[in-house]
Amino acid sequence: MARVTAGLTTSHIPAIGAAVDLGKTGEPYWQPVFAGYEWTKAWAAAEPPDVVILIYNDHMTSFTPQIVPTFALGCADEFAPADEGYGARPVPVVPGHADLATHLAQSLILDEFDLTLFFELDVDHGLTVPLSLVYGQPEQWPVRVIPLAVNVVNYPPPTGNRCYRLGQAIRRAVHSYSEDLSVQVWSTGGMSHQLQGPRAGFINSKFDNEFFDRLIADPADLARLSHIEYLREAGSEGIELVDWLIMRGALGGSVTELHRHYHVPGSNTAVGHLVLAPADFPGRPEEA
Ligand code: DHB
Ligand code: FE
Repeated sequence: MARVTAGLTTSHIPAIGAAVDLGKTGEPYWQPVFAGYEWTKAWAAAEPPDVVILIYNDHMTSFTPQIVPTFALGCADEFAPADEGYGARPVPVVPGHADLATHLAQSLILDEFDLTLFFELDVDHGLTVPLSLVYGQPEQWPVRVIPLAVNVVNYPPPTGNRCYRLGQAIRRAVHSYSEDLSVQVWSTGGMSHQLQGPRAGFINSKFDNEFFDRLIADPADLARLSHIEYLREAGSEGIELVDWLIMRGALGGSVTELHRHYHVPGSNTAVGHLVLAPADFPGRPEEA
């Protein structure tokens, strides 16, 4: 049987991808950002999953104002890195897992989560930057990836509670897949940031640190946070944080915190990163 074996969240700032691609990760500005991923890289090498369900948001790169799916699941065998205006990132094509994705589609839709399914889509920095942060610059990505795109760009995004419950349904779906697979669930985006308007550059470290704690200890309560509170407290693009509740829902009741990293600033954003283990797979932090 397939199992959800760990959860991970991280910011997906595009300038981080450029720093990796241009060999700038050791520069003084970037060094403290990347230092917080060293633990994760060692852990990821020691605990490779078979598949990552990677929850992210497309930034009007592949979806356009003509089509705005709230939740869209990638059922293809592979996904190419998108050209976001300055050429596609020089990273490998992302291998999918069409069979598990098709199973997730069936399980989730029959569980009353009416997903859009996509069979071809280029993936933007929301998906490729986290892969670079965790796996560096390999010839091929070492895991298969099932993309799940969440609309947080065009109003209205889904509620935090809907995201949390979708994560719980993902857990049920993974656990009903007959093949023995280790499946991690990653959510990307956040933390507080605002890229536009008079509050551009807004960061709220108090909110971000409480968000970490509440996500770990009481996600059902955190899921009640309203859109207007995200907007006020985390900035207009801080709404990406609703995606983190999908990962948390997929881990079940209690979790162990394996690793946490927080750094301000990374580009215009508070960089936040967590690695969590579900109670049934407590993880082996001492080995990392
Ligand atoms: C930045 C952060 C994002 O999440 C994003 O999608 C684009 C830009 C930034 O900090 O510059
Ligand atoms: Fe973003």
